[in-house]
Amino acid sequence: MRTLIIGLGRIGRLVARHLLNSPEANHWVGAVEITEDAALFAYLLNHDSTYGHLDPSIQATSDCLMTATGQQIPLFSSVEGALAACSPDLIIECSGDPRIADALVRRAPETHWRVLFSSQTEAVKGKPETFVWVDGVNHTDFDPKLHRFVVNPGCLNNCLIPTLSALNATNTILAGTFVSVHSVTSTQPVLDHVAKHARWSRAAYDNLIPAGHDPSQLIARFFPTLGPRLIGRTVRAPVSHTSYVTLTLKMASALTVETLKAAFQKSHIPPHVLGIDSRPLVSSDYRCDGRSAIIDGTSLRVLEDNTAFFSAWYNNEWAFAQRMTDIRCTLANL
Ligand SMILES: NC(=O)c1ccc[n+]([C@@H]2O[C@H](COP(=O)([O-])OP(=O)(O)OC[C@H]3O[C@@H](n4cnc5c(N)ncnc54)[C@H](OP(=O)(O)O)[C@@H]3O)[C@@H](O)[C@H]2O)c1
Repeated sequence: MRTLIIGLGRIGRLVARHLLNSPEANHWVGAVEITEDAALFAYLLNHDSTYGHLDPSIQATSDCLMTATGQQIPLFSSVEGALAACSPDLIIECSGDPRIADALVRRAPETHWRVLFSSQTEAVKGKPETFVWVDGVNHTDFDPKLHRFVVNPGCLNNCLIPTLSALNATNTILAGTFVSVHSVTSTQPVLDHVAKHARWSRAAYDNLIPAGHDPSQLIARFFPTLGPRLIGRTVRAPVSHTSYVTLTLKMASALTVETLKAAFQKSHIPPHVLGIDSRPLVSSDYRCDGRSAIIDGTSLRVLEDNTAFFSAWYNNEWAFAQRMTDIRCTLANL
């Protein structure tokens, strides 16, 4: 499946890394970036401050990335140029730029490609051709005849939905709250710097920075009665990767720590998506963990017989990029 990646930032480069290390490396046919500098992107792919060196490493020609096997991956500064030159079957949108999403949706009727979006984007919201894909939960509902636009709804949602799904299968969730301690992303400045929102303009590595996260519409798709009864927020913390969400959930029936643990251990969610670990680990231990959610087995508690309290780890970069790659792989094998 000829794959074009738009945006070689944190997520785009990790998707590229996962793809380069897969048997389908030769399916990567091009990339779009504002800075059309192949040498710079080869350097950034080869040397990642968080995930280390790429092996085998990648080289650059004047306008292409070049893999160890000699495959050339052209770099474009415009989406139109890339579409014309690469004839992709799948576009993986990792720029997060809504104008790109709009342009891709506008062009779609004249073309055959699908688009896999790295975030929920207004351009495809509510369209019948759109499928919000939470791997391990609803992947079997994908309809290749209908769905042109696939949305991977974000790292925290990828963690929350399989976790809630595992628990809801054993005991109905009535309401709840969550707080996610989330690592820094490149939307945050290193030092105080003017941004759209006041708190978003504060130095990433000097602060805990609270922010909202309203998943109610998405949660309602998967758990119709829960929707607005789950509220939460995030706190950006000065670490470069891996996040930790703590949930408090009121359940319909009584539960114990043992039944809570069993709900995760014996869950229908596949183990590459949801896991549980009771070792006293910390965030850096999850640097290259590809699971969407790893329940912290040391955190499980029950309050007044029917309220579950627990935490889960998720590597917002690595695991999210892994899910993007898994979805690509499923689409390629349809
Ligand atoms: N980081 C996470 O933890 C995470 C987790 C889940 C989902 N996501 C989603 O993944 C997407 C990418 O996030 P990210 O963290 O990878 O951001 P990022 O590091 O800022 O990467 C975005 C990249 O796209 C490039 N870009 C922006 N506009 C472009 C355009 N019009 N044409 C070509 N390239 C363009 C940017 O170039 P410049 O730097 O030159 O602007 C940058 O290299 C977003 O939709 C985000 O919501 C991120």
